[in-house]
Amino acid sequence: MYREILGTRLPIIQAPMAGVQGSALAAAVSNAGGLGSLPCAMLSAQALAEELSKLRSLTSGPFNLNFFCHTSPQPDPSAERVWRTLLAPYFEELGLDQGSIPDGPERRPFDHATADIIEAFKPAVVSFHFGLPQADLLARVKSWGSRVVSSATTVAEAQWLQAQGVDAIIAQGLEAGGHRGHFLQPALDGQMPLRDLLGAITAATDLPVIAAGGVATADDVRNCIEAGAMAVQVGTAYLLCPQATTSALHRSAIKLFQPGSTALTNLYSGRPARGITTRLMRELGPINKAAPAFPTASTAITVLRAAAEAKGDSSFSPLWCGERGEWCEDIDAGELTRQLASAL
Ligand SMILES: Cc1cc2nc3c(=O)[nH]c(=O)nc-3n(C[C@H](O)[C@H](O)[C@H](O)COP(=O)(O)O)c2cc1C
Repeated sequence: MYREILGTRLPIIQAPMAGVQGSALAAAVSNAGGLGSLPCAMLSAQALAEELSKLRSLTSGPFNLNFFCHTSPQPDPSAERVWRTLLAPYFEELGLDQGSIPDGPERRPFDHATADIIEAFKPAVVSFHFGLPQADLLARVKSWGSRVVSSATTVAEAQWLQAQGVDAIIAQGLEAGGHRGHFLQPALDGQMPLRDLLGAITAATDLPVIAAGGVATADDVRNCIEAGAMAVQVGTAYLLCPQATTSALHRSAIKLFQPGSTALTNLYSGRPARGITTRLMRELGPINKAAPAFPTASTAITVLRAAAEAKGDSSFSPLWCGERGEWCEDIDAGELTRQLASAL
């Protein structure tokens, strides 16, 4: 089944991970027989075109292009004021002026202009996070022959995705690093660990299911496939690979990983995402109502982050990582892909 839908030799998808990887990681995984993914949500049109050309030159294998489908929020000056007041002591501590905060968010939802750029590359798979694009855009992606997959964090989301005509559903368990893909309701009630979610979604839908969240070893992969998954999507385990662009500070934090050291936080973007607990998360609480809507929270934080990182300090850095970070190794991404599939 996965061969037909993903076009790969192995049922392993390298999770798209915006901010920590580009074409090099995706190509290494595709060349090893898995499905490499290029996270496109934070790329400008020019950077996207360049990364696509590089990816095509580095691999003749299938690949996945990943996009976000959030609704861009209306500007909300009063929410922004409350947020900046909360962050003011940190700006003062770092000797920064809040006037240096740029306008506008850096993450754009998938649109026709982006489709214009990727159309010529006819990606084997296009994956979405936070739902799906509008029907005309979805039909356009499918018209290229690309398979469409999207993340579900509840049974209701999986059923909604099935009704919209996706080819497979990514069951994103609560263990997963990075942003939760929930989109039907803002609350995190009813979010489940992977094992429970995989069972519930395979029982409730007729589509193939991709297991994501805390999958880090060959045994995990085999267990997911035996539990009914068509394939797995693995993110965190690739973070220390030499082909990833994970920063030195992020790598250091992962190397010191302790089980239980991650939490869901909305401070870095406005939407809950799992990362290693930082000073910012400890002091403001990992989930804080003052964080403005996704993705606007990131604009002020990015200024703090850049200044602190220049001093070797990750207090304001999003250290995205799943609950199984202890399994991360500095290992070639192609080798990791083969290892993950070795117990099948
Ligand atoms: C650093 C990082 C960045 C991520 N960025 C994205 C992204 O851009 N798009 C996306 O669909 N998922 C993203 N995710 C979530 C993954 O798709 C996937 O759900 C998750 O990595 C699976 O759990 P694991 O990290 O425990 O393997 C990200 C995950 C991490 C760890």
